[in-house]
Amino acid sequence: MSIRLSDGTEIPIEMHKVRIVQKTRLAPARERLKAIEEAGYNTFLLRSRDLFLDMLTDSGTNAMSDNQQAAMMQSDDAYAGSESFYRLLDSVREIFGYEYLLPVHQGRAAEHLLAKTFVKPGDVIPMNYHFTTTKAHFNLAGGKVLELYGPEALNTQSSHPFKGNMDLDRLREAITQAGPSNVSFVRMEATTNLIGGQPFSMENLRQVKALVEPLGIFLVVDGSLISENAYFIRQREAGYENTSIRDIIREMMSIADLCYLSGRKSCSVRGGLIATNRKDLHDAIRPWLPVYEGFFTYGGMSSKEIEAMAVGIREMTDLEVAGSSADAVKYFVGLLLQKGVPVVTPAGGLACHVDAMRFIDHVPQSEYPAGALAAAFFIASGARGMERGSVSMDRDEEGRDVPSDLELLRLAVPRRVYTMSHFQYAADRLQWLYNHRRLIGGLEFYEEPPVLRFFAGRMKTKGDWGTALTEAFEEDFGTGC
Ligand code: F0G
Repeated sequence: MSIRLSDGTEIPIEMHKVRIVQKTRLAPARERLKAIEEAGYNTFLLRSRDLFLDMLTDSGTNAMSDNQQAAMMQSDDAYAGSESFYRLLDSVREIFGYEYLLPVHQGRAAEHLLAKTFVKPGDVIPMNYHFTTTKAHFNLAGGKVLELYGPEALNTQSSHPFKGNMDLDRLREAITQAGPSNVSFVRMEATTNLIGGQPFSMENLRQVKALVEPLGIFLVVDGSLISENAYFIRQREAGYENTSIRDIIREMMSIADLCYLSGRKSCSVRGGLIATNRKDLHDAIRPWLPVYEGFFTYGGMSSKEIEAMAVGIREMTDLEVAGSSADAVKYFVGLLLQKGVPVVTPAGGLACHVDAMRFIDHVPQSEYPAGALAAAFFIASGARGMERGSVSMDRDEEGRDVPSDLELLRLAVPRRVYTMSHFQYAADRLQWLYNHRRLIGGLEFYEEPPVLRFFAGRMKTKGDWGTALTEAFEEDFGTGC
């Protein structure tokens, strides 16, 4: 939630009390340089103990509520028929209005099962934008991901409220070209992660459904960030300003045929699920659940996490919970805009996204500007963000680098974890870095895994710019922090 102060400024306001805290440490810049060098200039390979702010992801890093923690204490650890499962089923039925539930250990496990069940070699899977794990699973099954976003989606300086919308003309054309029987399904991602957490509108979701339903194609929503997408619909779509998040989510689910999600985001747990009212879809996936995940009533999740998810699904429909990350992101983005740092607008759902191609326009895309900026920002702040650019794209079949549509440094905002002073600090160090951006150079791989290389790949700097940046930092801030 945001609140207006008497001078007219708007600030995010925490609608909760903090009762448990975790200590962090701010290491001096020299130590940060050493840590990022050891990590191969890949922020994924940093150790938690070396971080001051962990803005790598909002996945599994949110603060749980007291009610979630309490629910974990009464979990039922039965291998089969666990009461915890039935409590989650009750929540899914109540909030999503879906009858059938398949629990999985996290979002990509749901993608694996969908790929296994519905994607056949040569198929296409149209979507508003891909996510890394989604694409990997659908490609591994022999499918081809088609990203059919609208003209504003990749504009990083936009005021379009729904950059996550699907372009209906492109969708119609793609289906005609492939033939409906070669379309596995259509996927809509709630707040498109890789292009800045940008939502789709209810109207667009409805139009997509109206287009695909008569062709016998089913509509899948990736609901990992469903409460944030619902929050934006409430804020930005005419006619929804007084609709509750619960009713908006229910309406989205009534349009979709199936929803899968990573519970690590909106639901503030660790786990995932697939839910639907379509018995035929459920029955097709179900046999694979115990093969790849676990028995039908736990699917790879611990019973404690299942209990926390049952509560988290209800709590994410609270306006204050649904907006807890979005309003903090808006504040963070606002600070950076004031300081002239290039960020993606409008502010999205899960993170503040810094536009690396505008930030360091002297670093060519072949030298991974977003990866370089993520490493440079860690040196300048002790805060860890994530590269969302060409490092996050795997090579094509001929082994060529695939340039990403956007080069973004993602600074994720886990729900209810950081406060205004953290955002002020991060914005200040980012501004310092922007003023010294000419010191930042490119990166090159020296260790590169074949799939999802961004997780474990190691890089080195082109020229020793890490040391030059550290020296400039020490000149301004001393050898302390
Ligand atoms: N779909 C979306 C939209 C996601 O953002 C993620 C994960 C997944 C699927 C996969 O879920 O991690 O539970 O297996 N996003 C994380 C992130 C990893 O950092 O953005 P998972």
